[in-house]
Amino acid sequence: MIKELDNELNLIEELEKSFNYVLKDIKNDLSNNPFSHYLLYLDNGKIVGYINYYLMYEKLEIANFNVLDDYQDKGIGTRLIKYLIDKYNGVCENITLEVKSDNLKAIHIYEKMGFKKVAIRDKYYNDIDGILMEREMTMKDIYILGIESSCDETSFSIVKNGCEEISTVISSQIDIHKDYGGVVPEIASRAHVKNVTFVLEECLEKANMKIEDIDAIAVANGPGLIGSLLVGLETAKTLAWLYNKPLVPVHHIAGHIYANNLVKKMEFPLISLVISGGHTELIFMEKDYSFKKLGSTLDDAVGECFDKVGKVMDIPYPAGPMVDKLAHMGSHTYNLPIPLDDDSYNFSFSGLKSAVINLVHNEEQRGNEINKENLACSFQDVVCEVLTKKTLHAMNELNVNNLILAGGVSANRGIRERFKEICELRGINYTFPDIKYCTDNAAMVAAAGYFAYQKGIRADLNLNAYSSMELK
Ligand code: KG4
Ligand code: ZN
Repeated sequence: MIKELDNELNLIEELEKSFNYVLKDIKNDLSNNPFSHYLLYLDNGKIVGYINYYLMYEKLEIANFNVLDDYQDKGIGTRLIKYLIDKYNGVCENITLEVKSDNLKAIHIYEKMGFKKVAIRDKYYNDIDGILMEREMTMKDIYILGIESSCDETSFSIVKNGCEEISTVISSQIDIHKDYGGVVPEIASRAHVKNVTFVLEECLEKANMKIEDIDAIAVANGPGLIGSLLVGLETAKTLAWLYNKPLVPVHHIAGHIYANNLVKKMEFPLISLVISGGHTELIFMEKDYSFKKLGSTLDDAVGECFDKVGKVMDIPYPAGPMVDKLAHMGSHTYNLPIPLDDDSYNFSFSGLKSAVINLVHNEEQRGNEINKENLACSFQDVVCEVLTKKTLHAMNELNVNNLILAGGVSANRGIRERFKEICELRGINYTFPDIKYCTDNAAMVAAAGYFAYQKGIRADLNLNAYSSMELK
């Protein structure tokens, strides 16, 4: 079995012990050299071979490669290298390695796998020459079909190489749920079932592609409404099984974050402020597809707060866009509390929501009319204040200079304007998702799916959907 070493202490110790003639302080190497990776070959849980390689942008260099004496000539080395070729095909330009000129057996194996001699290093190993070998990697384009059905949007999208959108179709159920003042889960799942095949067909048609042309199927399998998620998930599984395609599970929030990669290549390390109907979170990403939650809301999500504040002002669901519009027509006249105004990375919006609701009720009882524009503006101002303050605090403390916004509420004009102003003033590199890809859509799932696919994340047909799920 092949396994990528991921800082597991027991494996590190075993590897150091079994190959002590070449390997020393792996822990130190892993923590100080972000380019260094280890690939292991396990036989009944025992490490019998490994490759240590450096991954530097488009270049992959095999630094060290060994198989225990008792396990030579069993094709283990070939399998390890083939794993690297499969994984980085289309990602890296080439793989290089160096071999002693008298190791004819190894040279022969490498040549069979497409490596060519490109240079000789004279007497590199004491008296023996070193031969530098290289294998070109075809930079193949990767097409991911993304599926999103976690709430009230049925969406399919095809994205090339995680950054180029080919076609996206979003069927929104807003009109169906409007009468109920929110999404009704049972109605949502039924609408997904009704829509799913039409939306898929339209997406393929727009791209002028067939499922056969797709490299992998990415599906948001949580968090969200369970009945809704299951419709997208079962569709994804059926397609993966029928067309024999890899199935890639994607966390819905990873999707929201990667909507930014469709605008501009994301730069790391970064901080993402995730603001949606169900989430308010600060996420730290050291590199692609690595997520660390710094903090989140202790109660309501910010989008939920927009919707409930809108409701008390008689604005239909989802109220966010209308509150945003009104806010730009009014001024900050109402005095509202700044919620959880502390040094933590957590948020709280239920107090602010209650303050607005109480204010409206009190004014009503006094027979005073509310100025909706001014109330919307005062509310939005407080939201902007707390979001920018906490985000900048995290960026300062972690010494990060790349910022992205994510989620439905990042469509908010007031929030975008405020962040833009601050980022430009402080020289922060920032990206916001395209307005049309702030709220739920499958393009973001396909974009995230590409990076999950490149990382080797796969699921089998037992994959389940989860209404709540940690982003890892
Ligand atoms: O990301 P999303 O589509 O669904 C979740 O994953 O939750 O976000 C939907 C939320 C709703 O609460 C909606 O009111 C809010 O995003 N929203 C906005 C704006 N556009 C959408 N909130 C404030 N201002 C907007 N312009
Ligand atoms: Zn969402």
